[in-house]
Amino acid sequence: MRLILLGAPGAGKGTQANFIKEKYNIPQISTGDMLRAAIKAGTELGLAAKKVMDAGGLVSDDIMIGLVKNRLQEADCANGYLFDGFPRTVAQADAMKDNGINVDYVLEIDVPDDMIVERMSGRRTHPSSGRVYHTKFNPPKVADIDDITGEPLVQRDDDKEETVMKRLSVYHNQTEVLLGYYNNWAQSGLPGAPKYRKITGVGPVEQVRDAAFAALSE
Ligand code: AP5
Ligand code: ZN
Repeated sequence: MRLILLGAPGAGKGTQANFIKEKYNIPQISTGDMLRAAIKAGTELGLAAKKVMDAGGLVSDDIMIGLVKNRLQEADCANGYLFDGFPRTVAQADAMKDNGINVDYVLEIDVPDDMIVERMSGRRTHPSSGRVYHTKFNPPKVADIDDITGEPLVQRDDDKEETVMKRLSVYHNQTEVLLGYYNNWAQSGLPGAPKYRKITGVGPVEQVRDAAFAALSE
């Protein structure tokens, strides 16, 4: 299984990626998680990316495309992969095509903007695994502690309301165009075209998970 998850910041891409990667035994390629790991490691890339991410902008296409191409060379990608947060621009989507990086499905998770800020403000994450919680909608068993490892959860630096609003506008201006891009490609029936599926991301996490599983088996 090879797929792309599309959706606004806070739509639940990371949350659903955790279920899908388990079910299909494929790696989650989250470009946001990769950048956050670079920030934590204090690399040159991390230092440059932090400024852009804290401002709610996008890291340059060249950097992101290079990161993803390198990641796909790793052995765990041989059976498939799940992209979460990539591609985010037409240039990134075109680069995938040009490099023959195909997917079987594009799964859009749709959540209205007015629900996003509340989701972000309660989000807690376990950085090393990518597990995502919410203080109200998806709480860990013990507050601020990861269920599996017992390690502390953290709040993301870009989850401040002002930055979330900026990220949403960047999504509408630069990423949303990809919904039509992939929908049109899917309908073309051309070789290499993915199947396009859209589900609502509104409702309990398990309900969205079941809708995602159903969409990926059609
Ligand atoms: P990235 O990490 O990709 O962030 P994002 O796309 O903005 O998405 P989020 O991770 O915020 O949301 P999500 O959809 O994963 O939602 P989640 O499951 O966590 O990117 C961060 C930054 O890195 C970018 O701004 C950019 O600067 C840079 N970057 C990354 N990739 C890039 C690229 N390709 N090109 C250029 N720059 C790039 O859920 C959110 C919250 O909601 C959680 O608390 C969760 O528990 C809760 N929740 C989930 N599902 C539900 C539900 N059904 N009901 C109620 N609550 C729910
Ligand atoms: Zn995410």
